[in-house]
Amino acid sequence: MTTSLKGKDLLTLADLTPAEVRLVLDTATAQKAAWLAGDRPTPLAGLAVALVFEKPSVRTRVSFEVACSRLGATPVVLSGSDSVFSRGETVADTARVLERYCEAIALRTFEHAKVVEVAEVAAVPVINSLTDDHHPCQGLADLLTIEEHVGALAGVDFAYVGDGNNMANTYLHAGALTGMNVRIATPVGYEPKSEVVAQARAIAGDIGGTITLTHDAHEAVSGANVVATDTWASMGQEAERRTRLRALEPFRVDATLMAAAADGALFMHCLPAHRGEEVTDDVIDSRYSVVFDEAENRLHAQQALLSLLLA
Ligand code: CP
Ligand code: NVA
Repeated sequence: MTTSLKGKDLLTLADLTPAEVRLVLDTATAQKAAWLAGDRPTPLAGLAVALVFEKPSVRTRVSFEVACSRLGATPVVLSGSDSVFSRGETVADTARVLERYCEAIALRTFEHAKVVEVAEVAAVPVINSLTDDHHPCQGLADLLTIEEHVGALAGVDFAYVGDGNNMANTYLHAGALTGMNVRIATPVGYEPKSEVVAQARAIAGDIGGTITLTHDAHEAVSGANVVATDTWASMGQEAERRTRLRALEPFRVDATLMAAAADGALFMHCLPAHRGEEVTDDVIDSRYSVVFDEAENRLHAQQALLSLLLA
């Protein structure tokens, strides 16, 4: 039985086995209930976690800081003008320094290769807290949220509509690892990364889920239990914003599109949302929207992850 993730890195969800994903979700569920019941152990007392941000953040930063605090660890945030990679020191040297102070490093950056490099150099666990290509911590929180609302993951029909970005890549891994049927609808030229699709198809083949790519939003959403979307211009793509808005316009999640989903289908969005662009107010504010549960579950999923990597 899998009981620990000690010493692992989390760079993409595919770094975890299905059993390890299950362990994170079960630990998060147990810790969430324990906190509410007033059972508040601090297994990481005396440890420190470096939280490095080269892009803005609200949810990831606050949820990691609070998760550290609940576990008794000290979060050390480096962001903005403190940005650790802004003074010409090599990524490898910075990683070697951080690991002398901190028992784990969480990094939000642009190129995925940078978290890979940090993980290769640092002996401590390295957590990807968003790159241009992956957002595994959000993926864990979203799996927890679906399981809480639907009661299961295997067999769930999950549709993602919009840009084939870091969230699309993450949902491919998340769905494949848990036996969901993942359908991704994007405009031509905005598909998720082909190597992630291939990897997800290989995992899904073993677990029993399916992976479908389409350019038709209605086809993806038809009969789905969950409909998710994300911003059309991710952090770092601001210069492409106008072109992207034009290309992605037919992929807006509005009430008409949601009507094609299964009765009671959930709406999901990792946030921040651009209301009126990728999603309309009546969808994100509907009773089927679980976007704030997803945001809360960032805390529980990351608390579980940290405790399993470090305890
Ligand atoms: N969903 C998410 O990662 O939010 P932040 O960018 O605010 O951290
Ligand atoms: N795709 C978005 C996710 C934000 C949490 C971005 O990378 O900006």
